[in-house]
Amino acid sequence: MKEQLKRLKQEFQTALEQAGDSKTLEELKVAYLGKKGRLSGLMAELKSIPPQDKAAAGKGINDLKQSLQAGLEAKTKAFAQAEQARALDAEWIDVTLNPADRGLGAFHPVSLIQRRLEGLFTAMGFQILDGPHIETEHYNFEALNIPAHHPARDMQDTFYFTDGHLLRTQTSTIQIRGMEYLKPPLRIIASGKVFRCERADASHDSCFHQIEGMMVDEDISVAHLIYFMKTMLTEIFEKEVKVRLRPGYFPFVEPGFELEISCLICDGKGCSVCKRVGWLELLGCGMVHPSVLRSGGIDPQRYSGFAFGVGLDRLAMMKYAISDIRELHNGGLGFMRDFTLPADLAFRR
Ligand code: DAH
Repeated sequence: MKEQLKRLKQEFQTALEQAGDSKTLEELKVAYLGKKGRLSGLMAELKSIPPQDKAAAGKGINDLKQSLQAGLEAKTKAFAQAEQARALDAEWIDVTLNPADRGLGAFHPVSLIQRRLEGLFTAMGFQILDGPHIETEHYNFEALNIPAHHPARDMQDTFYFTDGHLLRTQTSTIQIRGMEYLKPPLRIIASGKVFRCERADASHDSCFHQIEGMMVDEDISVAHLIYFMKTMLTEIFEKEVKVRLRPGYFPFVEPGFELEISCLICDGKGCSVCKRVGWLELLGCGMVHPSVLRSGGIDPQRYSGFAFGVGLDRLAMMKYAISDIRELHNGGLGFMRDFTLPADLAFRR
């Protein structure tokens, strides 16, 4: 028995030394100290030992049991400590680190303008609506009084899907969706990305942003339109800007206007952004065409309305004196940092 105990101890020692993780330790525990383990086997053999040797053998087994337990415990503890040290090392946080060095998030100039206008218009009772980028010809053209063979489609060439859908060229789609969704009196704005098959230059890109607005009620006139446009531009530029309203043709309004502002990049002298004319077409607007009202299920005999559409990128370029629209879309962080406000400031109006 003595020999057996000695061998078992040695075996265990070797196994313990080789154990590399706590799972192996658990297996060792079961194999040696478990109910059907090696020590229980020895206990069972006690029966067949001569009475005079029993006490010594029993003590031997117990001593061995204690020594195995102590060995296991020590190693388990060592593993736990090593595990904790590893976790502390990996999940280490320097609470003294200056948070300013981590780069505070900021809004893109286009988002700043969008939020500002959404804030202004909701304060004036307008509702914010949204619409899909992938549109049908109906919402993008037909319902807006631009039938299939209308030359206005040429100016808004876009990307078509094989099933007839297209990437919307204008947020004016929301005029129709809005009229279908709400009954007059209605005041809505909608902003988002629009797409055109366009060659990129300082003032054009194949994807840009617009905000659309529409107000429909009884007795809405051009006076309402002018009031809201003036309020909008004062809000954006925070100062008096020179504007001019010229007749403009958009199939979905009658009369239609082009609102132009004196170029803020060159102060009206002429530059690449304003194509050397000193004026920059900022937005299209007008009185909603009767057939557009009808497309939206609204009786043009009873109701009238105005609508406008503005390029948000263009507003951002004017506001922050950015001379190339591509700067707004290429994701350059260095550039953005010069124009964006920290998120908390952007929310304050
Ligand atoms: N959708 C026009 C464009 O993308 C802009 C526009 C013009 C919108 C006149 C309007 C409007 O709502 O009345 O060029």
